[in-house]
Amino acid sequence: MRSEVIRMASAEPSVNFNLLHRTCKLVVLLCFLHISVTVFFYVRSLDIRVAFVQNQQTRNGTAEAHPPLDAKEAEQAEDEQAGKSLKKCPETSPLLVGPLRVEFNIPVSLDTVRKENTGVRPGGRYKPDDCVALQKVAIVIPFRKRDEHLKFWLYYLHPILQRQQLDYGVYVINQDGDEIFNRAKLLNVGYVEAMKEYDYECFVFSDVDLIPMDDRNIYKCFSQPRHLSVSMDKFGFRLPYNQYFGGVSSMMKEQYLSINGFPNNYWGWGGEDDDIYNRLAYKGMTISRPSGEVGKCRMIRHERDKQNEPNPQRFDRISHTRQTMYKDGINYLSYKLVSKETLALYTKITVDIGKP
Ligand code: BGC
Repeated sequence: MRSEVIRMASAEPSVNFNLLHRTCKLVVLLCFLHISVTVFFYVRSLDIRVAFVQNQQTRNGTAEAHPPLDAKEAEQAEDEQAGKSLKKCPETSPLLVGPLRVEFNIPVSLDTVRKENTGVRPGGRYKPDDCVALQKVAIVIPFRKRDEHLKFWLYYLHPILQRQQLDYGVYVINQDGDEIFNRAKLLNVGYVEAMKEYDYECFVFSDVDLIPMDDRNIYKCFSQPRHLSVSMDKFGFRLPYNQYFGGVSSMMKEQYLSINGFPNNYWGWGGEDDDIYNRLAYKGMTISRPSGEVGKCRMIRHERDKQNEPNPQRFDRISHTRQTMYKDGINYLSYKLVSKETLALYTKITVDIGKP
């Protein structure tokens, strides 16, 4: 009996011990589980934070570095920067010299023109480096097989335009093929192509064979469309008629757009400049001109080009400008770009503009 009591007495603590042991194990297990869960969630939160930071960095990086700018935007940004550090150029450039001698008896070489105009950038682009030009001017020249004339034009005009302190680019719009010539349509193409390159605000439309004889005849735009070739040697240094708007003219972008650009359907010589005049008059604009003295210019003598015969339909077309101007213009321009060459002294754009 005694021995039984003793056995029982000694069995009880062992049961308790087992229970305690199991409870401890459970507690440890629970602790371990708790720690694991805590660690798991902590690590996960770390991950998320790292990812978030990385994401933020990428996003900020994107926002700060900007997507790669195209050439036009980059130039605009550069202009803005220059605008902050440079003063505006004066209203009247101090570099002007006035009347000029213009002759065409000695041929010029492009090499000479290049050497004499080292400030001109590829594509025939220039802007003054000591002040911000008052206007950004695209000079558009309709062209076909007149390389000799173009050399004279570049020879005389580049120095003049630089003295005029303009931010300018020269765009020669070359009609591809041998179809009949269309001056006004080429001018429309010039507008579109120049706008692809730079934020031009003013357009000078110039024949390739007309050279100003005075650098005070500024190749820029005014509050009204401007006729620049007002006294041509060809017409005895006077205007052939009051509405004459041919040769060289300039228009602000808004003026040009308000008349729906130029007509596209004047094939051959003549009439398109009168149509442009009509458009301007119908929109209530007047023509501004320099004085006869400042507006003197010389034309390079030449035979009439083949495939540019006088257009017999021109009189009829001119009489209908009011009805046609909103149907026929920059809004209905279609052409094929054949090539674009950024040459040392000008940008040559060759286009297929179709046929009548
Ligand atoms: C034509 C114009 C030309 C002017 C001067 C007019 O008869 O229609 O296109 O510019 O003559 O030659």
